[in-house]
Amino acid sequence: MSQILTLRRPDDWHLHLRDGAMLGAVLPESARHFARAIIMPNLVPPVVTARDARAYRERILTALPEGMDFTPLMTLYLTEETDPDDVAAAHAEGLITAVKLYPAGATTNSASGVRDFDKVRPVLEKMAEIGLPLCVHGEVTDPEIDIFDREAVFIDRVLDPVRRATPGLRVVMEHITTRDGVEYVTANDRDLAATITTHHLVINRNHLLVGGIKPHYYCLPVAKREEHRLALRRAATSGDARFFLGTDSAPHTDPLKQSACGCAGCFTAPNTMSILAHVFEEENALNRLEGFTSLHGPAFYGLPPNEAQITLTKGDTVTYPDKIETDDGPVTVFDPGFALHWQVT
Ligand code: NCD
Ligand code: ZN
Repeated sequence: MSQILTLRRPDDWHLHLRDGAMLGAVLPESARHFARAIIMPNLVPPVVTARDARAYRERILTALPEGMDFTPLMTLYLTEETDPDDVAAAHAEGLITAVKLYPAGATTNSASGVRDFDKVRPVLEKMAEIGLPLCVHGEVTDPEIDIFDREAVFIDRVLDPVRRATPGLRVVMEHITTRDGVEYVTANDRDLAATITTHHLVINRNHLLVGGIKPHYYCLPVAKREEHRLALRRAATSGDARFFLGTDSAPHTDPLKQSACGCAGCFTAPNTMSILAHVFEEENALNRLEGFTSLHGPAFYGLPPNEAQITLTKGDTVTYPDKIETDDGPVTVFDPGFALHWQVT
C-alpha cells in the first residue's frame, strides 16, 4: 500500500541559481517543486545594488521555462560601500526580501564581503528600522580559527555583538551546522531564525573524509561531527518555527568540484524533497515536514504560505539522474547514500 503525503508547496529560503547557462540548467530543478526561493547574490561580480538585483531578477524570470510558477525573492550582497538609502528603496518597491552578509573570504565569491562591521552599521540600523531581514553566513574567517570551529566562534565574536548593538534587527542564521547554532537560536526568542540544509541533515564529516575524500560532500560551512548532525535533525524535526529549510543548493561543474582545489557546494535541488521526507520519516516526524518546508519560513518573512500543494508518494526506489548536463559542464546531484522512496508526484 502506498503512503501519500500532501503539503503546501515548499519554499527554499537559501538558494544559489548562478547566471547564464548554469542558471538556465538549474532553475527548473528548483522551480519544479519550490514556489519561491531566496536567491543568493554571490555572482561574479556580486549583486550589490537595487539596479543589480532588478537586472538579475529579470534574467531569472527570462530563464524560467513557460508554465513554471516560481518567484525569486531577491537579496543584496552587503558590502562596506552599501548605501542604506538604496537598500531602503529596494525594499520599499518590493524588489528585495533580505540582505546577505558574507564575512569577507568566508566562502565562494565572498571577496567583497564585510571586514569591518562598523562600516555597515548605518545599513544594519536602517534594516532594523524597516524590518528587512539580514541573512548571515555565520563563519569567522580568521586563519587562526579552525574551520570546524568557525561557526561557534562567529556567534560569540560577531553575531551576538551585532544583534545586541542593533535592537530590532531580524536575522536569519543561514545553513547552521552545529549544536552551538541550534542552541543560540533556541535561546533567543525574538528576531532570530535559522535555516538548515538538506545535506547537513544527512552527512557528517566522516562522510566527507573517511575512505577517500568526497568532493561532492564538500560545502561551506563544512559538515561537522555526528553530534552536530543529530542536533540539526532534532531542530529541523522539532516543529519549532524558528527553523526552516534553506537548501543552499550550490551547483558547480564536476571539473571545478573534482579538482586539487575543489569548490564548496552541494547540488541538492533535484532530490531535496525526497531526501527530507526520508529524514523526517526516520525521525517519526512526517507530520512536521510541512512546517519546516512550507510554513515556518513564510511566517518569519511575513509572507503568506503557498496555496498550491504538492504530493509525495512512498513507493519503489526513486530514480533521479546522477548528474544534470549544462552548457558549462556536468553538475553532480547530491547522493544521500541511501535509496529514496518518497517521490514528488
Ligand atoms: C556556496 C556557493 O557555492 O556559492 N557554497 C557552499 O558550499 N554553500 C557559497 C555559500 O553559500 O557558502
Ligand atoms: Zn549558500
